[in-house]
Amino acid sequence: MIYLDSAATTLEKPQTVPARTAWAMTHLASPGRGGYGAGMGAADLVYRTRERAAELFHVGDPERVALTSNATHGLNIAIHTLVPAGGTVVISGYEHNAVTRPLHAIPGVKIRVAAGPLFDADGVYAAFEREITDGVDAVICNHVSNVFGFIQPVERLAALCRERGVPLIVDASQSAGILPVDLEGWGAAFVAMPGHKGLYGPQGTGLLLCGGEARPLLYGGTGSLSIRQEMPDFLPDRLEAGTQNVCGAAGLLAGMEFVARKGTQRIHAHERSLACRMMDRLERLPGVTVYRGRDQSGLFSAVVDGMDCEETAEALARRGIAVRAGLHCAPLAHRSAGTADTGTVRFSFSAFNRAEQVERAAEALGGIVKDGKKAW
Ligand code: ALA
Repeated sequence: MIYLDSAATTLEKPQTVPARTAWAMTHLASPGRGGYGAGMGAADLVYRTRERAAELFHVGDPERVALTSNATHGLNIAIHTLVPAGGTVVISGYEHNAVTRPLHAIPGVKIRVAAGPLFDADGVYAAFEREITDGVDAVICNHVSNVFGFIQPVERLAALCRERGVPLIVDASQSAGILPVDLEGWGAAFVAMPGHKGLYGPQGTGLLLCGGEARPLLYGGTGSLSIRQEMPDFLPDRLEAGTQNVCGAAGLLAGMEFVARKGTQRIHAHERSLACRMMDRLERLPGVTVYRGRDQSGLFSAVVDGMDCEETAEALARRGIAVRAGLHCAPLAHRSAGTADTGTVRFSFSAFNRAEQVERAAEALGGIVKDGKKAW
């Protein structure tokens, strides 16, 4: 199989990731719940995971790195903390349902969309400038669109939010491990990310970087201040009720070590060059529209005229090429880009993909386009 769906989850992992995940399962117990070796080992592992993340993403205090089960979990905590019932929030036009659904669940919330054209970072920034006015409770923006790979102007937006005194939540689902993520430099209130995409950890892992106070979503035992019935008022315990995913953290730590060794810049350059190579090939095919822009990461979307995108993906799957098709849980992004009626076929790359796989995938799509309906 040629796997081109790393924006959903990276499937090929550094060898250390499964090895350490499996090791943790039979060697580490419950962190903070035992003064014996296996319990202390688990606490140490979890702390080293926070430390590694704090170094990678510029968080001064590792205790401000909370372990979550995915980016959605972290975004829910961030939104629940900052957006009250009846509150006002400004979001980009490229947000995922992980942002829009929790917002819609808040009674009376007013959602303003800072609508800017696809691949127009200046236009998006100008839209935020217009929408961020007095009375806005929070601003939410993804660093990279999961559908189009559009790199949003997060650094400039962070400066604007600091200037206007509005807390910023960044969804780094498609950028952590690939682009510089800088909690303190941005002065963001929260940055949420998955562990299982660009950080090469297992599914069911994620991180929430906290710039300030946070409200728990989940209540329960933390191994600290057990006599009290309120959740601890300090991080990370405040956000981590119940036993953490220690095996997941072991794998995530190994994944972050891989990213740190390789360097995000190199990973990004590699993924981007594969994406560009594939876009060059697909642009030559008749009836294929490629969504391409200057501010783009190593993932992109395309549409084949007259072919349903799910059918295109199925035809590719039958030829051993794994991609994602449809709305990618981001209907707002499709409405902003004008692809809501068709959806798109998305190609996304990782540090493990090779140029020769791009050639084979492009050739396969070429055959499908040529065969038309016969292809499936
Ligand atoms: N949000 C993930 C994606 O874009 C799962 O595929």
